[in-house]
Amino acid sequence: MRFEGSTDYVATPDLMLAVNAAITLQRPLLVKGEPGTGKTMLAETVAAALGLPLLQWHIKSTTKAQQGLYEYDAVSRLRDSQLGGEHGSRVHDIANYIVKGVLWQAFSAETPTVILIDEVDKADIEFPNDLLRELDRMEFYVYETRELVKARHRPIVFITSNNEKELPDAFLRRCFFHYIKFPDKETMQSIIDVHYPGLKKTLIREALEVFFELREIPGLKKKPSTSELLDWLKLLVAEDIPPEALRAKDQKAAIPPLHGALLKNEQDVHLFERLMFMARQNR
Ligand SMILES: Nc1ncnc2c1ncn2[C@@H]1O[C@H](COP(=O)(O)OP(=O)(O)O)[C@@H](O)[C@H]1O
Ligand SMILES: [Mg+2]
Repeated sequence: MRFEGSTDYVATPDLMLAVNAAITLQRPLLVKGEPGTGKTMLAETVAAALGLPLLQWHIKSTTKAQQGLYEYDAVSRLRDSQLGGEHGSRVHDIANYIVKGVLWQAFSAETPTVILIDEVDKADIEFPNDLLRELDRMEFYVYETRELVKARHRPIVFITSNNEKELPDAFLRRCFFHYIKFPDKETMQSIIDVHYPGLKKTLIREALEVFFELREIPGLKKKPSTSELLDWLKLLVAEDIPPEALRAKDQKAAIPPLHGALLKNEQDVHLFERLMFMARQNR
C-alpha cells in the first residue's frame, strides 16, 4: 500500500515520503504544522486515495483515551431496568450498553481502515500516554464483558497536533513524525490551482504578494494560513475586486479589501494599518 498523491490535495514529496514511511513501519504518523496547513485533510486524502474507510476522532479538552475504545452507558441501563418489559430483558446482557469507540470500530472492521486522531494536543497530557498500549499492541480488554478485542487489520493511524502542548517522549518514540512546513509561493500556487482552477493569474499573483507580505509582519498575533488565503481569494472573486486594488503601491489602498478573511483580531489590523501608513510616508 502506497500513497502516490491525489488530484485534490497538494502533497509535497517529503510529505508523501513520510506517509509511506509510517505505513511501512506500521506506526502512527504524527503530523504537526500551523493550523490550516492541511493536516486534517491529509488523513482524508490518504484514506480516499487508498480506498479505505476513514474513522475520525476529533479530540476536545475533555476527551479521554477510554472513549476511543468504548464507553459503558450506565444511564441507559438504569433507565431500561426501571422501564421493565421489553427494555428490562436487555438489562441482563451488559454488552447491550457498551458503545464502541473509534479504535474498536477500526479493530473490528472487515477491511483495513484509516484512523484520524485529530488535534491530540487539545486533550490533557495523560491522553497520549493512555493510548500507547492500544496503538502499539492493537488490542485491548473490555472488563465489563471480559472480552479481548484484537485488531483484525492494523489500521493506518494519523495523529495531528497544532503544537499547543508538548507530547510525552514515550508517545513520540512510537510515532513517525512529519512537520508540514508552511507552503512556499510555488506550492501555494498549486494549492490555489487545485481549489480554483482558471482563476486570473494576475489576481493570484497580487493576492499572493499581499498574503506573504502580511505573514512577514513582525509581531503579528495570528498569521493567516492556507485556508484563510483560499477564503480571501473566493471573496475577491465573488466581489469582483480587480487585481490592481490589492497593490500596496496604490495610494488609495490603505489595507487590502476584505482583510477580515486574513486578519482575525484588531491589534493585527491596527499594526498593518500603521505599517501601510509609514510605508506611504516614506515614499
Ligand atoms: N496541501 C493542500 N492541498 C489542498 N488544499 C489544502 C492544502 N493545505 C490546506 N488546504 C486547504 O486548507 C484547508 C484547511 O486544511 P486543514 O486540513 O483543515 O488544516 P489543519 O488541519 O492543518 O488545520 C483545507 O480544507 C483545504 O481547503
Ligand atoms: Mg485540522
